[in-house]
Amino acid sequence: MSSINYAEKIPNNVNIGGDRTLQRALEQWQPNFLQWWGEMGPSDFAMADVYLRTAISVDAQGWAHYGATKMPDYRWGIFLADAVSDRRIGFGDAMGQPVWQQVPGEYRSTLRRLIVTQGDTEPASVEQQRMLGHTCPSMYDLRNLFQINVEEGRHLWAMVYLLHAYFGRDGREEAEELLARHSGDADKPRILTTFNEPMQDWLSLFCFTYFTDRDGKYQLKSFAESAFDPLSRTCRFMLTEEAHHMFVGETGISRVVKRTLEVMKEIGSDDPARVRSQGAVDLPTLQKYLNFWCSSSLDLFGSEISSNSAANFASGMKGRPDETQYEDHVLREKTMKLVTPEGEQEVPMLNALNEVMRESYLKDCEIGLKRWNRMIERAGHAFRLTLPSSRFRRSIGPWAGVPVDTTGKMITKEEFEKHLTEWIPSASDRAFVQSLMQRVIEPGKMAGWIAPPERGINNLAIDYEYVKLH
Ligand SMILES: [Fe+2]
Ligand SMILES: [Fe+2]
Repeated sequence: MSSINYAEKIPNNVNIGGDRTLQRALEQWQPNFLQWWGEMGPSDFAMADVYLRTAISVDAQGWAHYGATKMPDYRWGIFLADAVSDRRIGFGDAMGQPVWQQVPGEYRSTLRRLIVTQGDTEPASVEQQRMLGHTCPSMYDLRNLFQINVEEGRHLWAMVYLLHAYFGRDGREEAEELLARHSGDADKPRILTTFNEPMQDWLSLFCFTYFTDRDGKYQLKSFAESAFDPLSRTCRFMLTEEAHHMFVGETGISRVVKRTLEVMKEIGSDDPARVRSQGAVDLPTLQKYLNFWCSSSLDLFGSEISSNSAANFASGMKGRPDETQYEDHVLREKTMKLVTPEGEQEVPMLNALNEVMRESYLKDCEIGLKRWNRMIERAGHAFRLTLPSSRFRRSIGPWAGVPVDTTGKMITKEEFEKHLTEWIPSASDRAFVQSLMQRVIEPGKMAGWIAPPERGINNLAIDYEYVKLH
């Protein structure tokens, strides 16, 4: 099961050739996908040979093959983690019953909506990152960007497979819509706000892959627990790809911090204006970018109090990330204390699961912050990077639109508006970061605002020519 059939038009390990109708439907969608990639994917790099990894097996060990590929020739396909024999539902009211190989009628529309919402984020991020190739800080980074892009394209395939295979005509229509909505489009935007935010610089890309791809990790982990077994299996394999995206974010920000500290040492000052004049990102500006992308990503978990999250858990559709680490998998008796602008409330735990997820996500986000702060501390500086409060700048849930500062303290609307550009990037911060975005494509060379990575890809040297531009 785990080997992937590359002889077919659509590489897969689910024997789509055994279902003619499904195969035909997917083969009809394929040219539409390729057209979308050509129009909305990385701009102007179709002829470049990119050192990309491709899945050859869904086993944990050595699943990837590396080699120079032109992106439009990438073998996007359908790869599910191997089935677990006699798998049982691990949570909710149907706990212990066999998992579903087909969609139960009563959950059909909810499951379809969950899959479409997840699927919509995948091409959206490719669209957001479309122009970044032109301002890459190095060839190494350019290759990583394209690796992420082709894998997000494959994640779209993962969700489209589920829609085609399990949701009939509705599913096929949704698959078309996934190519018709576009990030930031005035008439047909992507479903979730974060995925409509413009992304014009690499500092945003690193923050996005740190915070927003990490939301992706949490969503995929909760779907990996799902009673709908094909969804669980497809998400389990997606998670192995997702790890690289967060690696790009975490190491990208580390390299920015490292370079900034070098500049601060060279000039003997932490004055942001002087750091900027040396062509590096001052730490207060980095903090603003973290605040922006973290707060935007926090909304992706949904409202703190949600009857949908309760229903999705009780039915078995969506679990908690790493469900087995918890003791109680039914949660009918448990409650949780939540702080809302009206004060503390005790709500049924089932209704607070979005918040449970958000809290464990924030803990995961802290790991990088600790690493960066250790670097800053070792360099002898008092400045510390922090995560904004989960109440800051929210658009969903009880804190939506409530003026609070980055520590979560309620303030007046006037104060909020007056100070907002001290907390998130102002137009002039963005213009400054934009001014640093000069393309560097000599192998091994780095833009002045970022330190080199510690090592290259797949044990190759940092100065390997990861992208051959023609
Ligand atoms: Fe993805
Ligand atoms: Fe991702």
